[in-house]
Amino acid sequence: KEIVVSGIRSTGFLHLGNYFGAIHNYIRMQEEYNCYFFVADWHSLTTHPDPKDLRGNVYRVLAENIGSGLDPEKVTLYAQSDIPEIAELYLLLNMLAYKGELEKVPTFKDKVRQNPENVNAGLLTYPVLMSADILIHKAVKVPVGKDQEQHLEMSRNFAQRFNNRYGELFPEPQAFTYGSQLVKIPSLDGTGKMSKSENQMATLYLADDDDLIRKKILKAKSDAGPTEMNSQKPEIIENLFALMKLVSAPDVVTGYEKAYNECTIRYGDMKKQLGEDMVKFIAPIREKAKSIQEDTAYLQKILKQGAEKARESAAKTLGEARKLIGIHYY
Ligand code: TYM
Repeated sequence: KEIVVSGIRSTGFLHLGNYFGAIHNYIRMQEEYNCYFFVADWHSLTTHPDPKDLRGNVYRVLAENIGSGLDPEKVTLYAQSDIPEIAELYLLLNMLAYKGELEKVPTFKDKVRQNPENVNAGLLTYPVLMSADILIHKAVKVPVGKDQEQHLEMSRNFAQRFNNRYGELFPEPQAFTYGSQLVKIPSLDGTGKMSKSENQMATLYLADDDDLIRKKILKAKSDAGPTEMNSQKPEIIENLFALMKLVSAPDVVTGYEKAYNECTIRYGDMKKQLGEDMVKFIAPIREKAKSIQEDTAYLQKILKQGAEKARESAAKTLGEARKLIGIHYY
């Protein structure tokens, strides 16, 4: 079976972007691949260092993944910080990463812009740690959303550089999705992708209650309505349709598309429909995740079991890397 690795940072509540960019693929992949899925708790410390939040956030990521349908018996599910081998590989890969290329990474530049007071070295070397996460299990496929594409390209570069310098060890990992293109879920206010840090009203969380989901969608931006037959949909309306395609029945979507093209669409109706379909989609995940999150003993058992399996695979790769580099003295 091909090896798959992917991680989600423990920075708060998961949203619809995390679901359709990552978790949705995880659930399908668990049947066909040898999957390693983890909570990227070290990565979350680059921006969310508060000790009182960490544990709850780690449990939440786990509970929301399992609540969405991920089966801890089928995949290896663990916390990044339980695998010290990742930290050692990260250190070794740091010698192959150039300061200049790290400074050019768009996600790094975004973070500098958002918070110039907190430009720590962990942020700069974020893609190196991410590469260590992936290469430690020699993964070939990495299910992620569109925003992670650049990081995957860097992982391939580091893998190549290692192989060239020390000898063939790492396959080159590819970003993966079941569709034809990596997913980017738009936010509800039309300002780019849905994200954890953004405007709370523009992000749909898997933990939102029914009324909040309805309210957010009703408040989502729209325009005055189409004016010409078959005119191009403005981006914000495209976004509403994009969300509808994810959760509504195909004939419902076609109905509204037809209404749009005939200029008879009423956005109020469309939003109401989308709200109800979104509630039907999110509510069962939310309720399952809630009950799992309360079962700390169960989550701890999963973490321990996952860490054991992941360390076995990680230790093997790290041993090979050390040997190729020449770290074996007695
Ligand atoms: P993170 O925690 O920001 O997001 C987790 C996953 O959700 C996807 N995602 C989205 N997909 C589509 N549309 C959106 N609006 C959207 N927002 C988030 C992300 O692409 C991601 O797949 N660097 C990673 C965590 C990580 C990792 C790894 C991933 C650490 N090591 C190794 C894969 C392999 C991150 O910040 O994800």
